Amino acid sequence: MTKKVLLLPGDGIGPEIVAEAEKVLKALNASEGLGLELSTANVGGAAIDASGVPLPDDTLAAAKAADAILLGAVGGPKWDTIDMAIRPEKGLLGLRSGLQLFGNLRPAILYPQLAGASTLKPEVVSGLDILIVRELTGGIYFGQPRGIRTLENGERQGYNTYVYSESEIRRIAKVAFEAAQKRNGKLCSVDKANVLEVTVLWREILDDMAKDYPEVELSHMYVDNAAMQLVKAPKQFDVMVTGNMFGDILSDAAAMLTGSIGMLPSASLDADGKGMYEPCHGSAPDIAGQGIANPLATILSAAMMLRYSLGLTDAADKIEKAVSAVLDQGLRTPDIYSEGTQKVGTAEMGDAVVAALNS
Ligand code: NAD
Ligand code: IPM
Ligand code: MN
Repeated sequence: MTKKVLLLPGDGIGPEIVAEAEKVLKALNASEGLGLELSTANVGGAAIDASGVPLPDDTLAAAKAADAILLGAVGGPKWDTIDMAIRPEKGLLGLRSGLQLFGNLRPAILYPQLAGASTLKPEVVSGLDILIVRELTGGIYFGQPRGIRTLENGERQGYNTYVYSESEIRRIAKVAFEAAQKRNGKLCSVDKANVLEVTVLWREILDDMAKDYPEVELSHMYVDNAAMQLVKAPKQFDVMVTGNMFGDILSDAAAMLTGSIGMLPSASLDADGKGMYEPCHGSAPDIAGQGIANPLATILSAAMMLRYSLGLTDAADKIEKAVSAVLDQGLRTPDIYSEGTQKVGTAEMGDAVVAALNS
């Protein structure tokens, strides 16, 4: 049966890293007969340049029709001054909300070969395997009202609204409890319930749901402490669950535990397991066009796509093993380079993963 995969390269390093993931998918498609049918569409700044909007109707329609989506990254200085409503980032947010991809899984795993690449001491990060479950279609990112208004005294005021309804909290908590059940049975819910009512409700609902998951040990932590604990002793965590903005921030912090943000993949899933897959990092305008971006987060996102949305577990395993093999070979893009290893560019890294697929 054919499986339709939509590639959305986006901006900056997006096209460079998606090209490498595409090589890997095409190689596996040929050798394993996966039946993948790949197509490409515009999103973000690339779509603005081509058609004036960050999420053209035909891109959204193609995303809805696809079995899974692999996205690079969107945004960049070229579009940073245009109207907020049609910025590249709105294209990504529109895909997430348009497809109801509320469950964002961001696994931070340290490959043992990269223990020396992290800015943290090897003993703090070695063996690290945590999963951040981030709510992705609600919270302050989407709450209404929002905007910039002029007050009576003539002063301007920017405002956003932090809201979560009970059903939104329950559905993301379910994802997190079930993930913890399948892993080591520990779930830490991260909130700001000492200040924000929305997270008082969040905490209350998590406590209520914990009764249905007796084998999961639920704890709560304030987000400021969680940021500190992630850097101090990250291995205390198994699964963390949090809202949209806290999850955005904490997952970038967790990325550095793995050696580089270029190593952190993600899955954004709807209630039925359909998903969009993307690296957690952005379009990295500072290194775009130089051929030095790390494609591994995107390649690992492709593996998550095969596993979670397309039921191709063996192929996903093959990609993850190949990534480990190239790290064993000592190949490193500059972001994960350390003395005694071999510096390679984006394309060389992608080629090496392809070569390692069937080794
Ligand atoms: P960023 O993640 O793009 O870059 C932060 C730093 O990490 C930079 O120094 C960059 O060079 C480095 N980096 C990121 N990915 C890398 C990779 N694969 N290999 C090596 N180094 C890598 O964050 P930013 O600079 O804050 O944002 C740049 C643009 O990206 C903005 O327009 C932002 O809105 C957008 N953005 C998009 C996404 C997305 O599409 N999912 C995510 C985050 C940021
Ligand atoms: C991410 C990004 C996005 C977010 C931006 C680009 C909208 O930072 O995927 O982590 O904030 O969710
Ligand atoms: Mn982010």
